[in-house]
Amino acid sequence: MPKPAVYVTRRIPEAALAPLRQQAELRCWDDDDPIPRAQLLREVRGCQGLLTMLTDRVNAELLNAAPELRVASNMAVGFDNLDIAELTRRGIPACNTPGVLNETSADLTFGLLLTAARRIVEADRFVRAGEWKSWQPMLLTGQDVHGATLGIIGLGRIGLEVAKRAVGFDMRILYNAPHRKWETEATLGAEYADMYDLLAQADFVTLHVPLNKTTHGLIGEKELKTMKSSAVLVNTSRGAVVDQRALYQALVDGTIWAAGLDVFEEEPVPAHEPLLKLDNVVVAPHMASASIATRTRMATLAAENLLAVLRDEQAPYTINPEVYSMER
Ligand code: GLV
Ligand code: GLV
Repeated sequence: MPKPAVYVTRRIPEAALAPLRQQAELRCWDDDDPIPRAQLLREVRGCQGLLTMLTDRVNAELLNAAPELRVASNMAVGFDNLDIAELTRRGIPACNTPGVLNETSADLTFGLLLTAARRIVEADRFVRAGEWKSWQPMLLTGQDVHGATLGIIGLGRIGLEVAKRAVGFDMRILYNAPHRKWETEATLGAEYADMYDLLAQADFVTLHVPLNKTTHGLIGEKELKTMKSSAVLVNTSRGAVVDQRALYQALVDGTIWAAGLDVFEEEPVPAHEPLLKLDNVVVAPHMASASIATRTRMATLAAENLLAVLRDEQAPYTINPEVYSMER
C-alpha cells in the first residue's frame, strides 16, 4: 500500500519529522517563517495529512484545495485558526496539543507578571542606557507580587498551573470559569468569583481562556475600568480576548498600572503599534510555550495525532471526536 501523503507547514524538530518520514510520504515547508497562502493551497492538493501551525488558517478554502485530507493536526493547544465546524461537516478530525505545554506556559505567564510588576525590562533598558546615576529610594519602584490577589480568568490546565505558582508567592487566588473547580478550591484555596468581582479585587489579572465568540473582546473598556488603578493585566491566551485600543487607553490614562502581553490582535505586532511605545507594557512574541523541550513535545504530539488518524485510529487529542462515529 502506498504511504499517505503528509504536508508539514513549517520547519519543526527532527524528533517529530522522523516518525512522519517513516510512516508517510513527507513534504515540508522547510523554513522558520510561514508558507505563503497561495503556495500552501497548492501544496495541500493530494495530501491526506496536514500538520499546521497557529498561523495557518484551515478553512473551507483550504479544505476545498485538499479534497483527500483525512486529518488536520495543529501544533498548538489553541485552535482558533481551525474552522472546526467546517472540518466536522467534512468528517475530518482536528487535533491539538494540550497537556504538554501547561507548565511551560504558566512559567512565562508568571515571568510576564513579575516583569511587569517589578519593571524589570524598563530597569534593564535604564541601566544599559547609562541612566543609572545614583541609588534612589523610590527609583523604579513597582508593585509587590507576594501577598497580592491574583485573578485567573479561565481555570483550565494552564490557569491551574498559574494558580500553583501563585501559592508559592502567598497570593490570594480568585478565579472565574464556566464551571466551579472544586478540587482546585480545596487543594489551592482558590476562590470562585464573578468576573466583575474578580476584576475589582485582583491586583493581577491573568487570562487563560480559549478565543471564541464568547471570549472575543472579553476585556474591554468597561472591564478595564472595573480593575484597580494599581492592577496589572497579563495575557498569554489570544490577543483578541482583549480590546487592544481600550487597553492602550487604560494604560495611558492610569486606569490600570501595567500589562504583560505575549499575544496581540495582529501578530506579528506592527512596529507602529502604540502599545509598544509605553514603558508600562512588557511584550513577548507569542512564546509562552517556547521552551526547547515543550516545543519539541508539541511537535511530536502533533505528529502522533496525525499518524494515528492515518492508521484509522483515534488520535490522542481530537477537538471534534464526534467525527469518529460519523459515516465516511
Ligand atoms: C499557543 O498559543 C498554543 O495555542 O499552543
Ligand atoms: C489549556 O491547556 C487550558 O485548558 O488552559
